[in-house]
Amino acid sequence: MSTEKLLNFVQGITRLLDTNPDESTILSQGQALLAELVASDDWLPDAFAQPHPQHYQQYLLYADPLDRLSIVSFVWGPGQKTPVHDHLTWGLVGGLRGRERETTYEKQADGSYKATGSALLLPGQTTAVSPAIGDVHEVANDLPDQPSISIHVYGRNIGRVHRHVFDAVSGAEKSFVSGYASDVVPNLWS
Ligand SMILES: [Fe+2]
Repeated sequence: MSTEKLLNFVQGITRLLDTNPDESTILSQGQALLAELVASDDWLPDAFAQPHPQHYQQYLLYADPLDRLSIVSFVWGPGQKTPVHDHLTWGLVGGLRGRERETTYEKQADGSYKATGSALLLPGQTTAVSPAIGDVHEVANDLPDQPSISIHVYGRNIGRVHRHVFDAVSGAEKSFVSGYASDVVPNLWS
């Protein structure tokens, strides 16, 4: 399987960041680049598309050596979802396979988190998160009988960031570092 499309995306997003853009430029132009990547579903190597029977998987596809960005394949098995969580950096999400449901949350005066919206992400579509535009959400596989996959791009090495999961009702937060499901990354020059 050719990873040329992924290499083209890595080059495009790196060139964009090299111009020191403000965040709104990253979110708009980065999403346009990501939309090109997820416009076709013929480039993700199978090893980075495998669901796990118990929990969703985060496969690192690429990380910038200076931690300016990371690219991750998220694979949800049937019925799997994330907890309510934050990212503490900008993030771009592009649907590649299946159908995901994102529920956004906002912190309330009493410290709890209230769901403020819900949207489906289909293959080819993109969305974004960040502390500036809304950083707390939950993502679920909306399909009961097959995996869903999305490609995520973050402004840091997301698997190494100390961030939070939340109990929406009580507002209680727990620190976590997600890590990655795999010790290898795709060969961009295959
Ligand atoms: Fe997320």
